[in-house]
Formats: sequence, structure tokens, C-alpha cells
Amino acid sequence: MVFVRTVKIEDIKKVMKIAEISLKEVYNEELFLNLYSAWNTGFYVAVRDKAVVGFVCGTIMPGDQARILMLAVHPLHRRHGIGSSLVDVFIERCVMNDMKFVVLEVRHTNQLAINFYLNRNFRPVETIDDFYTNGESALKMVKHL
Ligand SMILES: CC(C)(COP(=O)(O)OP(=O)(O)OC[C@H]1O[C@@H](n2cnc3c(N)ncnc32)[C@H](O)[C@@H]1OP(=O)(O)O)[C@@H](O)C(=O)NCCC(=O)NCCS
Repeated sequence: MVFVRTVKIEDIKKVMKIAEISLKEVYNEELFLNLYSAWNTGFYVAVRDKAVVGFVCGTIMPGDQARILMLAVHPLHRRHGIGSSLVDVFIERCVMNDMKFVVLEVRHTNQLAINFYLNRNFRPVETIDDFYTNGESALKMVKHL
């Protein structure tokens, strides 16, 4: 059984491991700890058989807008609805906080993730050049709540 809950401090190492194997960008522990302690951050993990198998973290921005910063599911646990559950919980939290939009950036080459978000009614709005540290551009996507 899989369930989604708010992250705990003891999850951070496992979250970092999933990020490391799933995301091209390298994020240090300090960033995860800052996201963990920020009051306005939506940071959730998916747990399967007592193990953390995925996470989503985001933040609330000015102007009724929330932003998904990272989303990843361990490769062995993909295509079982876990990514969708994480996004659903994040969005529920945004609705509860009267947010009107959820925005995110995704690598323009990450077609799998782009399709994942398109299928969940995120719409592409803008390409942002040189967004990632390797110079790759990002596709900005928005979902109206
Ligand atoms: C993008 C990502 C988070 C999706 O996670 P996931 O757990 O595989 O997501 P889901 O299982 O909810 O959905 C993935 C697909 O599997 C399908 N699926 C879900 N359960 C399924 C099942 N039991 N059998 C077959 N397909 C299934 C979903 O319908 C979905 O397809 P769709 O997008 O065409 O609708 C994951 O691929 C990942 O971690 N990628 C690497 C990191 C990344 O790119 N993050 C996003 C960057 S912003």
C-alpha cells in the first residue's frame, strides 16, 4: 500500500537519494533542510511498505501561486500512480491555501515528465533559456486551480 504524508526530518537522506538518481540537477543537503523547515513549503513523501519511494516539494509564491520545485519517484516504483498521488496531494494543499495557480519548470528534453504534467492539465506557457546549470532550457508549465 502507498500513502502520502508530510516529510519528516528523518526522511531527508532517502529523499536526497531519490533526487540524486532521478534528477539531473545536483541539490545539496542544505537546500532540502531549508525546504523542510520553511513554513510555507509543501513537502510530501510517498511511503510504500514503510520505505520512502518518492517525494514532491514546492513553495508558495506571491500572487496566489504555488510552485513545484522537485518531483521524483524511485525508478523501481514508477508507473504505479505514485507521482500522480504526490501531485494530487500537493494540489489539494494549494487549494486549501486558496492558491489560484501551480507553476513548475521542467527540462525541455524531459518529454516523459512533460507528458505526465500535460495529462494532469498543466499547460506550457513559456520556454526559459539557460535555466539549468548545464545551460539547458526549461519549459514553464501552469495549472489553473
Ligand atoms: C515523472 C515521475 C515523477 C512520474 O512518477 P510515476 O510514479 O511514474 O507517475 P504515475 O505512475 O502516477 O504516472 C506515470 C504514468 O504511468 C501511468 N500509470 C500509473 N499507474 C499505472 C499502472 N498501474 N500501469 C500502467 N501505467 C500506469 C500513468 O497513467 C502515467 O501515464 P500518463 O502520464 O500517460 O498518464 C517519474 O517518472 C520520475 O520520477 N521521473 C524522473 C524525475 C522527473 O523527471 N521529475 C519531474 C521533473 S520536474
